[in-house]
Amino acid sequence: MSTRQTKILNWSKKAPGIWSSIIGSPEAFTPFSAINVKPALQALKKRENTPFPFNPDSIKVDIISSRIIIRLPLKEDEKIFGFGLQFMRINHRGRTRYLRVNSDPKIDTGETHAPVPFYVSSRNYGVLINTSRIVTIYCGSCVRKDSKYSSIIRDRNTDPLWMATPISDSVEIMIPGNGVEIFIFSGNTVLDVVERYNLYCGGGALPPRWGLGFWYRMPTNFNAEQIIREAEELRKRDFPCDVIGLEPGWHSKSYPTSYEWSKERFPQPAEFIDKLRSKGFRVNLWENPYVSPSSKIYPKLKPLSGSHTVWGGIVPDYSLPEAREILKAQHTREHISLGVSGYKLDECDGSELTDNSWIFPAHATFPSGHDGEQMRQVYGLILQKMITDIFHERNIRTYGLVRASTAGASSLPYVLYSDLYDHRQFVRALCNSSFSGLLWTPEVREAKSSEEWVRRIQVACFSPLAMLNAWSSQMKPWSFPEVEPIVRKYIKLRMQLIPYFYSAFARYHFDGTPPFRAMALEDDLSKTDAAEIDDQYMAGDSILVAPLFGSERAREVFLPEGIWYDFETGERFRGGQVIQVSAGLEKIPLFVRNGGIIPMMPALSHVPQTGEPVPLEIRHYGTVSGNFKLFDDDGESYAYEKGFYRWRILEVKVLPDGKKQGSISKVEDGWNSSYGRITWKFIE
Ligand code: GAL
Repeated sequence: MSTRQTKILNWSKKAPGIWSSIIGSPEAFTPFSAINVKPALQALKKRENTPFPFNPDSIKVDIISSRIIIRLPLKEDEKIFGFGLQFMRINHRGRTRYLRVNSDPKIDTGETHAPVPFYVSSRNYGVLINTSRIVTIYCGSCVRKDSKYSSIIRDRNTDPLWMATPISDSVEIMIPGNGVEIFIFSGNTVLDVVERYNLYCGGGALPPRWGLGFWYRMPTNFNAEQIIREAEELRKRDFPCDVIGLEPGWHSKSYPTSYEWSKERFPQPAEFIDKLRSKGFRVNLWENPYVSPSSKIYPKLKPLSGSHTVWGGIVPDYSLPEAREILKAQHTREHISLGVSGYKLDECDGSELTDNSWIFPAHATFPSGHDGEQMRQVYGLILQKMITDIFHERNIRTYGLVRASTAGASSLPYVLYSDLYDHRQFVRALCNSSFSGLLWTPEVREAKSSEEWVRRIQVACFSPLAMLNAWSSQMKPWSFPEVEPIVRKYIKLRMQLIPYFYSAFARYHFDGTPPFRAMALEDDLSKTDAAEIDDQYMAGDSILVAPLFGSERAREVFLPEGIWYDFETGERFRGGQVIQVSAGLEKIPLFVRNGGIIPMMPALSHVPQTGEPVPLEIRHYGTVSGNFKLFDDDGESYAYEKGFYRWRILEVKVLPDGKKQGSISKVEDGWNSSYGRITWKFIE
């Protein structure tokens, strides 16, 4: 027999425009508690006190047979964005989202590597469910008998306006259990809502400067000598690169993982890392979380692991501090103290109902008392936090890759990736990740033609992590000789844009502004049809990226209101309309806003060391004055958390006679700036 209780919610204000309410008796283990989310309250206090987005009494909550059902009002014109790393669509209105972690998210159900139970509405508010359970969200995809719209009934047979999903007046959220915490965020724009969410999660991640350079992951089973040779080849061929990634094969055992160096392939790991470091490369290590019986830490972790194994490896319960300490000590001693810069945390996103049925079951038990379902939903998050903490304790920043994440992740310096490979889906995921505090790399692995190769590299160079992952394909940046100069040009452009991107990431940290974002977050476009554009996006505040796919030579681009300039040629375009652009392979269409300022550095082979100032060429586009906040810190440590950073204000004034004057704000004597000589370039 079903039981039913109706709840009235009490809201407590957490920060300007942010409220939470506890429904029933929530479980203690949530994404926020798992990683101890610390809201950036100082930054949030500077925001306006925007009102609660709807009448609180219009939210209805029932607990029916150990399921919580939350009903929120939905207006006819509302669009719904978010839910984490979604590949299939931008606006989820009319769909049901089943937010389960899934390593193989080929179907449009809401399942993905990083499902986030957070959505933002085009009416400038967001809703977050802070739970480690699988949440189902009906985004106007079910209609109640008492709905405003339920009287409109059409017959499919005779009425062309018939819809499979009739218009609904509510979002309904279903969470298993007897309690949950819900948050409401409000803002003046959808971007403002997303920024508040990111700030509430601690502010966005600030990667080390080298993390924004080019990454190259080496083929599986390459040994130290082969990797050094390949790295030297990169330098010889003049391809900038900052990070070399080691894929399975560096361990004595990879699946499950031993975390110990293979004595055959890497007899002297410290020397190997030093050698790469002396050539300007950092090393990133691949691993999965399942511990091999051959590992020295296995006996210590075994009593602290779950009831089931994966590929014969144990699954440590890293929600327990004592389990975390074992892995942290081992990683510190055997990798990080040798100079390893970070990790790729693979395979933490399994699900048993897909092709890859390799994960522990939902009914698995863990020593902490959490069950398999909860652990699967937050495992990727816990891993990111545990590894970040090791580096933080040593005052070194890391930047890495992870294949699973969820709510609360904004401040964690990890970038998601996937084994899916559809290029349009990759670009859509880049747009979608910006609604939920996630970073995503449309990594390049292989291509059927040199055209596809170039188009993929161009997009990767305009993303949070520019990477070639050759683990299986063995491809090299020069694999298609006929387009080698184009590939080099884009990897170099990535290097040149680091001051611009790095400052965008600093804004992510301090203001919550996603560095790469969907058009829906721009200029309040969320209310218009342009909100659904999923094949172009903004990189920082001023550059609009409109990729070409496969063998395309032309496409339509929507330019928001205002005047825009071609990044390379300075050609002028009128915005507020869709334009047709054509571009050869050597060009990805990039448009800069009128007044946009782009600080660029030379295309060095790798990011300079702390204390080595780089000269800047500062470009200004167009006919109106503009300014840019350039972030200046050591680029590698957490000193910025203690105030050791400066914002340098770049300003270009357009004088009445049309002349332009550039200036950069001064820093005090003794400040060790990462920027040297400045030259200005005015493009109109
Ligand atoms: C996959 C991962 C790939 C590669 C491979 C190595 O799970 O997505 O990028 O690392 O494992 O076995």
